Amino acid sequence: MRVLVTGGAGFIGSHVVAELLARGHQPSVLDLAPPEPPGPGVEWTVADIRDPAALARAVRGVDAVCHQAAKVGLGRDFADAPDYVSVNDHGTALLLAAMAGAGVGGLVLAGSMVVYGEGRYDCVRHGRVRPGPRAPGDLAAGRFEPLCPGCGAELTPGLVEEDAPADPRNVYATTKLAQEHLAAAWARSTGGRVISLRYHNVYGDRMPRDTPYAGVASFFRSALERGLPPRVFEDGAQRRDFVHVEDVAAANAVALAGLGEVPAGTLRAYNTGSGEPHTVGEMARALALAFGGPEPVVTGAYRLGDVRHITASSARLRDELDWRPRVAFDEGMARFAKSPLR
Ligand SMILES: NC(=O)c1ccc[n+]([C@@H]2O[C@H](COP(=O)([O-])OP(=O)(O)OC[C@H]3O[C@@H](n4cnc5c(N)ncnc54)[C@H](O)[C@@H]3O)[C@@H](O)[C@H]2O)c1
Ligand SMILES: [Zn+2]
Repeated sequence: MRVLVTGGAGFIGSHVVAELLARGHQPSVLDLAPPEPPGPGVEWTVADIRDPAALARAVRGVDAVCHQAAKVGLGRDFADAPDYVSVNDHGTALLLAAMAGAGVGGLVLAGSMVVYGEGRYDCVRHGRVRPGPRAPGDLAAGRFEPLCPGCGAELTPGLVEEDAPADPRNVYATTKLAQEHLAAAWARSTGGRVISLRYHNVYGDRMPRDTPYAGVASFFRSALERGLPPRVFEDGAQRRDFVHVEDVAAANAVALAGLGEVPAGTLRAYNTGSGEPHTVGEMARALALAFGGPEPVVTGAYRLGDVRHITASSARLRDELDWRPRVAFDEGMARFAKSPLR
């Protein structure tokens, strides 16, 4: 299969390229960043995803596109919003227009679990409930758990499924949701097929270093490298699903192979997680232990755009695309403690 991987120079994209090569496919790459020695036979376009001429050339002759290029992370402040929308949404619209022009009918999108906002919660009296964003006053007072909007009782967090309503809580999340809507609109209008892989917290080799755009595992790993303890927000009991980048790359490969099963004109979403939820505090401890560095410090600090618990069921991906995560949490963190960052 000839596959254009946008963002193929990035953390996840570079693993997708390697995985496709290993499976005998022909990946090509479009990325703003120049190649770090790519595999033999990989054609590179160093260009902005918002460059229509470069896109038109890059999509010519491919069977499908694997769209990883994006501006990621939470950003510095709201002044970043126009840039997120420009790269992630305008960029996706331009990519889809180029695909429509060239008659490319398949897309695998790097989606995100951030589209759900808070995870799934159940109240003993009210059943499934949807707590809104947490109040700044509660966070400042160290009350981190969202409570039942009906009765104020404590809630039990559970696994989100793909049909849960979307509730993006920050600019990045909004742009990731809009990417899915744009892709679905493209599919309807062209008869194309889309799979959106809603990744959980991806970690592993070549994860970018700590910047306002990086993920939590990178913050902890970068601190340890400097001899500093990982600084854990809130009380450390936030639940996440940390999925290894090699498993995410394999999910992209099976999604590309499975595009033909998606009904023409539609998008199908798949949660992409390890299925093994852990708290952020557990992750910090596992990493510090494997690194042989200082114990994590739980700071009580918080960010307004963060959600408390978000863990999803990846049963659909296992059942329909026969994908299995291979890197378990302990092994993955032990490897990540020694991995090169970018
Ligand atoms: N890392 C995670 O935990 C995670 C979780 C959910 C979703 N995702 C999604 O996965 C995808 C890949 O993320 P990543 O973690 O590998 O990030 P990354 O920053 O390592 O990779 C993104 C790549 O996109 C490229 N890029 C950025 N802006 C561009 C532009 N204007 N034109 C062309 N290329 C551009 C960058 O150069 C980079 O190589 C993104 O779509 C992201 O939203 C990541
Ligand atoms: Zn209740």
